[in-house]
Amino acid sequence: MRHFARPELARFFANELERNKAPHLPGHTLFLEAPRYTGKSVFLKSDLGPELRSRGALVIHCDLIRDQATDPARVIYEAVGEELLKQLCTIAGAPVSANGEVPRATRWIRMNTATIGAPHGASLSDALAAIQDMAQQPIVMILDDVQHALTTSSGEDAMKVLKNALGSMNDGVRRGLKLVTAGSDPYKQVRLLYANSAPFREACLAPLPRLDVGYLRYESSLVERIGGQPLQLDKLALAFSLFDYQPPSSTRRLLNYAPNAPQSPSIAKRGCFVPPFRTSSTVSSR
Ligand SMILES: Nc1ncnc2c1ncn2[C@@H]1O[C@H](COP(=O)(O)OP(=O)(O)OP(=O)(O)O)[C@@H](O)[C@H]1O
Ligand SMILES: [Mg+2]
Repeated sequence: MRHFARPELARFFANELERNKAPHLPGHTLFLEAPRYTGKSVFLKSDLGPELRSRGALVIHCDLIRDQATDPARVIYEAVGEELLKQLCTIAGAPVSANGEVPRATRWIRMNTATIGAPHGASLSDALAAIQDMAQQPIVMILDDVQHALTTSSGEDAMKVLKNALGSMNDGVRRGLKLVTAGSDPYKQVRLLYANSAPFREACLAPLPRLDVGYLRYESSLVERIGGQPLQLDKLALAFSLFDYQPPSSTRRLLNYAPNAPQSPSIAKRGCFVPPFRTSSTVSSR
């Protein structure tokens, strides 16, 4: 997906995660928080994830709200199961070594990737350890819309299990596991971080900075490219802040400046449209 990239912000958060090598749990977590529709998912998928991968991490991305009908715990376990399957396939397809040795990681080959987290299945910690044995990389779990984990008791349990996995995978022997989350409901996130029985007590909730004028310049350039007139960035910035820094609504305002522009397919996909009745005079009065 084409997007306004935020590489410096991604580097900043990746450095934060790397910098903290303390054995205790908060050093291995990053909880990001920002209001709805302000670019969290795009940042995780298109900026932070790639930055972490470029530093050698194996990123397992879970969008907890991707499918409202699926229990968030299942989303987590399935994402780990899928990654495990990928690693098992790689191992199975690898050529046997010259001296006929069986790689250590093949001991995981019997693990059932479909029953992770189930009563008779492998635990999340074992599954993550297996992935790491095979991939030989540090792992970062990214949970987008983490507040959704608290909508079911199995989701809450999965967060506790994840906390335990963080403990066992960061014992100084393994290559480590980090947890990155983003959410838009600070009250629910507080239940993960600050309540008496919170699994991630002492971890910090960090605000994800809002998209800024750089993003507006980027969007303006797209509008100009499809035939719009030059934009007044100061007015746009004001409109953007009035609309809670929500990109699609600001884009709609941007399009108000480009009444004759053909509709961009990428913008149409985001639900923005140019009303057919708009004329140049109605536009200039805005
Ligand atoms: N960096 C960006 N570049 C271009 N467009 C962006 C960017 N960030 C966000 N957007 C636009 O804003 C929309 C909303 O962004 P996103 O889904 O990342 O927000 P969110 O904070 O995750 O929302 P929610 O709270 O609903 O999960 C995206 O579909 C995209 O159109
Ligand atoms: Mg999102």
